[in-house]
Amino acid sequence: MASDLHKDVSAPGVSAVPARSTAGRRTWWRRPWVALPAVVVLAFLAFSLPRYLSLDPGQSLVPSTFPGHYVLLVSHIGFATVAMTTGLFQAWPWFRRKFRVAHRRLGRVYVFGGVLPASVLAGVIGAASPFGPMSAVSHVFLAVLWFSCTVAGIGAARRRRFDTHREWMVRSYVLTMSIITNRLWHFVWMPVLGPQVDTWFQGSEVAMLQTEMALTNWLGWTVPLVVAEALLIRRRAVSRRRTAR
Ligand code: HEM
Repeated sequence: MASDLHKDVSAPGVSAVPARSTAGRRTWWRRPWVALPAVVVLAFLAFSLPRYLSLDPGQSLVPSTFPGHYVLLVSHIGFATVAMTTGLFQAWPWFRRKFRVAHRRLGRVYVFGGVLPASVLAGVIGAASPFGPMSAVSHVFLAVLWFSCTVAGIGAARRRRFDTHREWMVRSYVLTMSIITNRLWHFVWMPVLGPQVDTWFQGSEVAMLQTEMALTNWLGWTVPLVVAEALLIRRRAVSRRRTAR
């Protein structure tokens, strides 16, 4: 998520493509749609958080599966909220260009006060998910990938490979935001699977719910990650073509 401005073009793995020209770049308030991710994040948090802010286990959507589960769940949600909100600024090109020191400081908050603790906690509660083994495996895979992409991103920044750093942090934030795409899949699978309880699931509500959660959890992060990877590959190809000219 580093800006092109502090790119060390002599380092291997760092593109020598010049930073995009500022000519013709319009100020962000003339392009109100750049605020869309912030609106989506705020709507998601306003909808999801209140029941956990009450610290009342009775309001949780996730039944506890071991002693201390609820405390770990609420801590996960707290750290994940830090990751989601700080990541918004980190991913915003205007903010990165304008406030480079703040970008570095917020980056540390995103990593150490957000993703790393949230992903470790997600791995622990995810392994004991009440929504069945397919969801548990998805959560653990996602937690490990979320942690690993973020650590790879910091490592690249420390080695001053800023293009590589940017790519890892794009993957990291796509995974952070995948909790939102995850929710969207419920609207697809509930109407498809719900009416099939007596046919495909032979009367078992549990089998239907576990299948619905499994599909939602797996598709929630794999689809955005594949799309992000395709865009990163395309961006690299465009950069190579520009340098070859
Ligand atoms: C991207 C990696 C993430 C993983 C692997 C993960 C994992 C989990 C797990 C395992 C649970 C318990 C549900 C279950 O056992 O099936 C959970 C619940 C929850 N997580 Fe995360 N999570 C992630 C990211 C986030 C983010 C970025 C947020 C944003 C605030 C978030 C907010 C929540 C909320 C609100 C719940 C409570 C369940 C609900 O209200 O639907 N998670 N998460």
